[in-house]
Amino acid sequence: RCQKAGTSANSSRKLPPVRKVVPANTEPPERRSWAPAVYYSLSKEIYYFLGHEIKIQEAIDHYGGVVWPAALALCRFLDTPTGRQQINLLDQSTLELGAGTGLVSIVATLLGAKLTATDLPEILGNLRCNLNRNTRWHWRHEPQVTALQWGYKLEETFPRSTHYYDYVLAADVVYHHDCLAELLDTMLHFCQMGTTVIFANKVRYQSDLVFIENFQKAFNTTLLTELDEVRIYSATMRF
Ligand SMILES: C[S@@+](CC[C@H](N)C(=O)[O-])C[C@H]1O[C@@H](n2cnc3c(N)ncnc32)[C@H](O)[C@@H]1O
Repeated sequence: RCQKAGTSANSSRKLPPVRKVVPANTEPPERRSWAPAVYYSLSKEIYYFLGHEIKIQEAIDHYGGVVWPAALALCRFLDTPTGRQQINLLDQSTLELGAGTGLVSIVATLLGAKLTATDLPEILGNLRCNLNRNTRWHWRHEPQVTALQWGYKLEETFPRSTHYYDYVLAADVVYHHDCLAELLDTMLHFCQMGTTVIFANKVRYQSDLVFIENFQKAFNTTLLTELDEVRIYSATMRF
């Protein structure tokens, strides 16, 4: 697997605080040896979109464990009449790449998309939990969660003949990692005639600009808006 580099992509974004809770010691240690010595409890972030309160459980140990700026900006955009006019997800088959905590997938599901959220296998537990908890009583189409590693066995696991998507969403998937070529290949794999790729990203590094340049060469792109330093592009196949 291409490796993720170890620097935080948003230096102003702190990982949520870890609360260390030691269980009450009511019995001698030897009699409660089955009990965990330390519990880690992470904060839940609360967001409001589309008139819903969305509770996101964050995790501390990976990049997909926190909500990133582009996810927030894209959700804000989708919560406006202009955003919904330009990106109409109702009944649309929609794939999210690098879904992380699932905020964008939750908002897309609440907007009526037929949504499949994807990420690396280790991210899926928390992603599934957030998606289910926040959409359970409100979805029009039950959201799906599945593993997808960029550039890896795509035609085997997601053959283009049977996996057509109207929309491909990707928020803050470009940061300091060495999978940018695989990411672009993955976007190209899923972008068929009629597919729109929505790519939202905060520009942080020179390599982000290089990716954007390659993205613009590979697709017909339109800059839909720029919100809080996050650019939101829409892209379709080049003929
Ligand atoms: C910066 S986080 C963004 C998460 C979410 N989209 C957001 O904006 O909050 C990047 C996401 O891409 C996922 N990712 C990184 N490398 C990947 C790869 N090679 N294949 C699939 N997903 C990957 C990470 O697990 C993480 O969830």
